[in-house]
Amino acid sequence: MKGPIVAIDGPSGAGKGTVARRVSEALGYRHLDTGAMYRAVAWKALLDRLTLDDEAAVAGLAGRARMVIEGGRITIDGHDVTSAIRTPEIDRAAAAVARLPRVRQVLVRRQRAEAEAGGVVMEGRDIGTVVFPDADVKVYLDASAEERARRRAADPAHSGGTAGQAAVAEAIEARDRSDTMRAASPLTLAPDAVRIDTTGMPIEDVVETVLALVRRALRKADG
Ligand code: DC
Repeated sequence: MKGPIVAIDGPSGAGKGTVARRVSEALGYRHLDTGAMYRAVAWKALLDRLTLDDEAAVAGLAGRARMVIEGGRITIDGHDVTSAIRTPEIDRAAAAVARLPRVRQVLVRRQRAEAEAGGVVMEGRDIGTVVFPDADVKVYLDASAEERARRRAADPAHSGGTAGQAAVAEAIEARDRSDTMRAASPLTLAPDAVRIDTTGMPIEDVVETVLALVRRALRKADG
C-alpha cells in the first residue's frame, strides 16, 4: 500500500515547520516544505535578475531548475540556499512568485511527483485544497497574529530574528494578506481539515495531536 500523505497548511508562524518536521521524524516519513520551493525559485529569479511578475520567465525557471530537498536542506541548480531563503527580502519575493498561476502549476506538479511513494508530511498553503485534496490527514495550523509574530521574531533560522517584533508583525500581516487574497490557490481552510489553534499550546502537544490524527487515519485504513 502507498504510504499516507499528511497535509499541513496554515499561515506564517503558525508552527508548520517545526510540527511537520517532528511529525515526520516520529513516523519515519519524508518531510517536504513546499514554501522552501517557492522561496528557492524566488531566490534564483533574483539571482537571474528576472522581473518577479514576469510569469513566463519565472515559470520557465521553476520548470527547468534542479531542486533537491533533503535532510532539511534545499539546493537549486547546485546552490545550497537553506539559509539564504530565510530573509525578509525572500519573504516578499516568494509571496510575489507564489501569486503567479503558472509558477504554482509547475511547482504543484513537482510536489505531487516528490510524494509519489507516499509516506510524506507536506507543509504549505494549498496542500489539502489543491496539491492533495485526497490527503489521508489534513491539518490547518493557526495561531493569533501576536503569537505568530512573536514566534517568527524569535526564530533564529529566520534573519527576521534581528528585526523588532512590530516590524515582523507588519511583514507577516502583509504576507498573510497576499497569501489569502491572491486569486490563485489562496490560503484557505479545507472543509475536511482539522483546524488546530496553537496559540499558547506547547509544541509537543501540537505534535501529539497531529500524530493522534495520523494514527486514527491509519487504523481506519486498516479496516
Ligand atoms: O511557508 P513559507 O513562509 O516558507 O512560504 C513562502 C511563500 O510561499 C509564502 O508567501 C506562501 C507561499 N506558499 C504558497 O503559496 N503555497 C505553498 N504550498 C507554500 C508556500
